Amino acid sequence: MSGGLKELSMPCKPPAGVADGVNLRIAEETFLVLMEGMKKMILIVAGLVGFGTSEARTEDKVDFARDIQPILQKSCVECHGPEKPKGKLRLDSKEATLKGGKDGVVLVSGKADQSEVYRRITLPADHDDVMPNKGDRLTKAQTDLIRDWINQGAEWPAGIVIVSGDKKTDAPVEAATTTPTLPDYKPTAAELKAIKELEALGVEVRPIAAKVDWREVNFRSQSIETIEKSLGALKNVLCLVDINLGGAKIKDADLANIKGLINLNRLHLENTPVTDAGLVHLKGLVNLDYLNLYGTAVTDAGLEHLKELTQLKHLYLWQTKTTTAGVANLKKALPNVDISTGAELKEIAKPEEKKDEKKEEKK
Ligand code: HEC
Repeated sequence: MSGGLKELSMPCKPPAGVADGVNLRIAEETFLVLMEGMKKMILIVAGLVGFGTSEARTEDKVDFARDIQPILQKSCVECHGPEKPKGKLRLDSKEATLKGGKDGVVLVSGKADQSEVYRRITLPADHDDVMPNKGDRLTKAQTDLIRDWINQGAEWPAGIVIVSGDKKTDAPVEAATTTPTLPDYKPTAAELKAIKELEALGVEVRPIAAKVDWREVNFRSQSIETIEKSLGALKNVLCLVDINLGGAKIKDADLANIKGLINLNRLHLENTPVTDAGLVHLKGLVNLDYLNLYGTAVTDAGLEHLKELTQLKHLYLWQTKTTTAGVANLKKALPNVDISTGAELKEIAKPEEKKDEKKEEKK
């Protein structure tokens, strides 16, 4: 996780030794583009995700990851997160939310009208108890979503923990180089056992930073036998946020082992034999932010399986069998995803190639 971030933080200093005005302008523009990139990175680091839930979908079943998580993340977790939660109430995990705050239970599953959470967000703007108690109120569409979500049973898929994004958005650029603030997480005994098993196989499941229980695993340089055995053991290691299988000779079916790793944030599958059939197993990885499929045989049909990954921000499809139409189609379902198809790289390469390939091109 942190490796990728560091690479990106490098170009952020303006190029040194720029003399004349024109160069300076180009340099400035380059810098601004890079700054834009950095801003995006910070948003990702802060775990700030889609706000796109303005429309009420009363008839539909409310989907926690799609509809509710972004509201809590943007409007509540800043004050009701792990650090000094206001009203002794945390709204960043299922367990904490059900536990309630200083005055007890705040959410009665199936009964929005008895839930303090819903009462607080629907109070008149000038009421002392209204939530959020600072900043923008929730829209009617948002409070309706929360009402329907509670009435439909307040489903909160196991393991989803919400990280506050708001505070970090105004933070200085350097924030990108520091470890992202993840909520506390304690692996279960079963997870620790699986991690031990993996260690016995020579696979290190490392914490992503000091004093953090979120983990990453990198299978580079492991044999395929070890990898396949490890994936079996990884099945329930929910503290995994980053898996690197780049270059591994895994089969599509191997990916069935990771389909329950709901906290997974980054997944490297570049240069693997993975095909469309393997991507079926990624459907439930609702927190996936980064997916690298570069150099795989994935086609447009495979992209269909990614349409529910609403948190996806970076998708790499260079040298796959996907088409412009397929990419555009996915982009419709996931407008916030940044899809890298390699077309931009070809553009940059062109002026160089021209000299050698001019004749061939003219044919
Ligand atoms: C800017 C900070 C802030 C934000 C943002 C915020 N809250 Fe609060 N919240 C507080 C404070 C302070 C209290 C304690 C005082 C009180 O009870 O009014 C509180 C208390 C509560 C309580 C009562 C807890 C109890 O047991 O008494 C609920 C429920 C609640 N907030 C829900 C929410 C929800 C839902 C959101 C998001 C839509 C939200 N809050 C956003 C500051 C905030």
